[in-house]
Amino acid sequence: MITTSIENRVLTICFDRADKKNAITNEMYTAAEQALLNSAEDKEVRVVLFKGEGGNFTSGNDMASFLSMSKESEPPVLKFLLALATYPKPVVAAVEGLAIGIGTTMLAHCDYVVAADNVRFKMPFVDLGLCPEGGSSLLFPRFMGHSLASELLILGDFFSAEKAEKVGLVNAVSTVSEVLPAATKVADTLAAKPPAAVRNAKAMIKQDYWEQLQPVVREEIRQLSAMVAQEECQEALAAFAQKRAPDFSRF
Ligand code: COA
Repeated sequence: MITTSIENRVLTICFDRADKKNAITNEMYTAAEQALLNSAEDKEVRVVLFKGEGGNFTSGNDMASFLSMSKESEPPVLKFLLALATYPKPVVAAVEGLAIGIGTTMLAHCDYVVAADNVRFKMPFVDLGLCPEGGSSLLFPRFMGHSLASELLILGDFFSAEKAEKVGLVNAVSTVSEVLPAATKVADTLAAKPPAAVRNAKAMIKQDYWEQLQPVVREEIRQLSAMVAQEECQEALAAFAQKRAPDFSRF
């Protein structure tokens, strides 16, 4: 589930499903989207802070939820991504443990990311017979260059907080025990600043790519939804459910 709380005008949105490493279900996307939409005009909220429960940020999209994506024109993940990418106030993330799939790509829409030194980032879209999402196919080559974006999005291996900082995906790396206090300090600092000026600066920073980004986010999810029904993804999902390595040799 998603839990939320407000303190010092900071809305914390927590991925809270520790037994599944905080894998995000459709219900969780919808709850997070609603929390963003409801707080966008709320004067009591000036900053959003994302975190995960139980020592992990998130293991990404719930594997079983992929199957429902092909049935909806605007699946919950798309609505969440659009709400996040257009959120007018600063978004901070405190990332520890696993940050897989959307747990990595959503960070490109955050304004300040603190990662613990134990974070394992990964974007396993290709290994799942799928394609990049969250605007990563547009944003990642732009801010880290084509060779690194290809490495992270196609080879799709785990990578460290140190590398994430080098490629510009995170702002700061801390110890595990310091990650939440450090992110909270940044969120509190942002919440104390003049709110209209903060929002205006964020809008200016994002405006050059927003027009291009929205159709890309939609097209990525359109293609991903179609790929879920294809044999390559079906093999990957079956392998995960059966706790075995996938076999793509017949394709
Ligand atoms: N969706 C659904 N369930 C997930 C999940 C996900 N994305 N990630 C982990 N889980 C579940 C596991 O199935 C397991 O459930 P079980 O206890 O009922 O068997 C539980 O969470 C613990 O995961 P486990 O695989 O035992 O932990 P691990 O430390 O050995 O490995 C991962 C953790 C994240 C590396 C591994 O679970 C994994 O690869 N998950 C899939 C990640 C992924 O591809 N996400 C989609 C991104 S687009």
